[in-house]
Amino acid sequence: MKGIILAGGVASRMFPITLSITKQLLPVYDKPMIYYSISTFMIAGIRDILIIVSPNQIENFKNLLGDGSQFGININYEIQQNPNGLPEAFIIGENFIKNNKVALILGDNIFYGNEFSYILKNSIEKHDGATIFLYPSNNPENFGVVEFSDDRKIISIEEKPENPKSNYIVTGLYLYDENVSYYSKSLRKSSRGELEITDLNNIYLKNEKLNYEILGKGFSWIDTGTFDSLYEACEFIKILEKRQGIKISVPEEIAYRNKWISEEELYRQAFKYKNNSYGKYLNKIIDEGKAFGGKYV
Ligand code: DAU
Repeated sequence: MKGIILAGGVASRMFPITLSITKQLLPVYDKPMIYYSISTFMIAGIRDILIIVSPNQIENFKNLLGDGSQFGININYEIQQNPNGLPEAFIIGENFIKNNKVALILGDNIFYGNEFSYILKNSIEKHDGATIFLYPSNNPENFGVVEFSDDRKIISIEEKPENPKSNYIVTGLYLYDENVSYYSKSLRKSSRGELEITDLNNIYLKNEKLNYEILGKGFSWIDTGTFDSLYEACEFIKILEKRQGIKISVPEEIAYRNKWISEEELYRQAFKYKNNSYGKYLNKIIDEGKAFGGKYV
């Protein structure tokens, strides 16, 4: 499966901070936000990644991430001229996807939970049609919201409904089959002037090809779209990292544990940051010399 990270948009809710630098490159505690979505793909085993960015940000992304070889992955870039909606990712990315299945993650979504790697790999393995990942929310009206039948089948999905039919919202992580570009091209803009991922998911629902996974108790999902949620994400990562003496979503570590980069390459990366906690952490991983199979990301 290939992976697309959608990291465009104008993030006007975060002006003036995001006037010159895109939100997805802002720090979430001790690393850039985009590291978290890259890590999510990496723990799922996805190595072929397209990052879609706004026109004035491509150099910033390339300076940070290059071709991805330092993480043992392959990163391509495309530009989205205007934020025309999430499904445009599959139109822009059509040549990248070709006849493959593809995952999409929003570059401002952070996922963290026990067994997440297992949940993702399992979903990818049994994947057919489309798969969405649901999360219980206190303010479902801000998201895509699903409605369940009595036997827990999805019967509808509504985008930002005034009267949500459940508190289960659709997170910014999706798996699709090879028809996704074709369906995306058939979509029409909604009243808010965008192609809607909810309309795309409704096509799969109508075709009885929509699957779901619930990210339940103990799982954390944060959409870092506002100052408050970004601040909360920073706090969350800081608390976890301090308490457990680990770092979360470090692509170099995942690459090493996945055996996608050698110990020598990890040394090289650690040396780049030799004077700070990130570099010390990478050195600690090397010293431990143990592979946990990506569990602690
Ligand atoms: O976060 C999950 C939610 O994401 C889902 O529950 C909703 O169904 C889905 O529509 C989406 O809602 P948002 O209102 O959060 O989407 P937003 O317009 O904020 O865009 C999400 C991210 O994607 C944001 O970082 C900007 C980026 N983006 C957005 C658009 C519309 C792009 O890169 N290009 C775009 O065209």
